[in-house]
Amino acid sequence: MKAAYMNEQGGPEVLQYGDLPDPQAGPGEIAVDVHAASVNAADWKVRSGSYARITDFPYVLGRDFSGVVAEVGAGAGAGVTDLAPGDPVFGVLDAGQEGAYAEKVAVRADLAARKPEGWSHEEAVALALAGLTAIVSLEDTLKLQAGETIVIQGGAGGVAGFAIQLAKHIGATVVTTASAANHDYVKGLGADRVIDYRAQDFTQEVSGVDAVFETVGGDVARRSFDVLRPGGRAAFIASGGQAPKPPRSDVTALRPNVARARRHMERVAELFAAGAVTVPPIRTFPLAEAADAHRVSEGRHLRGKLVLKVR
Ligand SMILES: NC(=O)c1ccc[n+]([C@@H]2O[C@H](COP(=O)([O-])OP(=O)(O)OC[C@H]3O[C@@H](n4cnc5c(N)ncnc54)[C@H](OP(=O)(O)O)[C@@H]3O)[C@@H](O)[C@H]2O)c1
Repeated sequence: MKAAYMNEQGGPEVLQYGDLPDPQAGPGEIAVDVHAASVNAADWKVRSGSYARITDFPYVLGRDFSGVVAEVGAGAGAGVTDLAPGDPVFGVLDAGQEGAYAEKVAVRADLAARKPEGWSHEEAVALALAGLTAIVSLEDTLKLQAGETIVIQGGAGGVAGFAIQLAKHIGATVVTTASAANHDYVKGLGADRVIDYRAQDFTQEVSGVDAVFETVGGDVARRSFDVLRPGGRAAFIASGGQAPKPPRSDVTALRPNVARARRHMERVAELFAAGAVTVPPIRTFPLAEAADAHRVSEGRHLRGKLVLKVR
């Protein structure tokens, strides 16, 4: 198979394009002919070594995929009788597994969901990890309720864009942060109020909110505690594996456990079918140009999603 892979960690230039052996579907797995893979922010962090040191090369990045089932693993069992070669599927690889920047990937069958008819592979993958993360963060972790107010940091990003729409669907009021060029975009997603974080200090603009969903990291994460009401809660996905420690004792800091499950992919499809969420703007790159896609991702100002077109 063709794959974008690396033999060492480092800058975008370590991503090479070439041939690697096809992965085989093991018991309980399917092998998928990948048509599209997202470039997620996690990918350049793994590539550069800011997450963990990789020792097993060649290494293929890529956490979510959309494609067509090529093979069902031997002994796959009752759990996969509903998937067969030829079925279009999308999903997120198991936590700790990567490899979607390739023409073929083996994945636990119970993590893959049927790709809704009418979605291209690029559209399906654009909603996969981003949708999963937003659903786990808002519904399962923050348990956001109708009538509450939430601050969503970094509204123009892939995860946050889904989260704005989901929060509105739940019935919350949404305040978000974005640079001026993205204000119309995030308002179009449903944001009730947008703060231009380059011109305004969000801690001076908003206070006493019920919840924060923090997708930016660094200083933005630390200062997010300031805008919560007593009893408020904040969920952090850009501050590593642990939520930052709150500087006050009357709020809760949460780190969503973004566990993979087919039901979450089905929830993404359900939200789309209900008209609650739309497909974000997608910028595509051919798989062979994964390094260029990483340069855009690492620039941290892409609106919507980056997708690699694999076939
Ligand atoms: N399983 C997990 O835990 C999980 C899953 C997915 C993502 N994540 C993490 O979540 C974070 C977001 O991921 P993503 O893929 O959604 O990111 P992304 O799409 O790369 O986010 C880019 C967006 O961030 C905005 N932005 C940059 N700096 C900002 C600031 N200071 N204030 C407000 N907005 C800012 C930019 O908008 P402007 O141009 O308007 O600045 C841009 O649209 C990443 O750190 C990623 O690693 C974690």
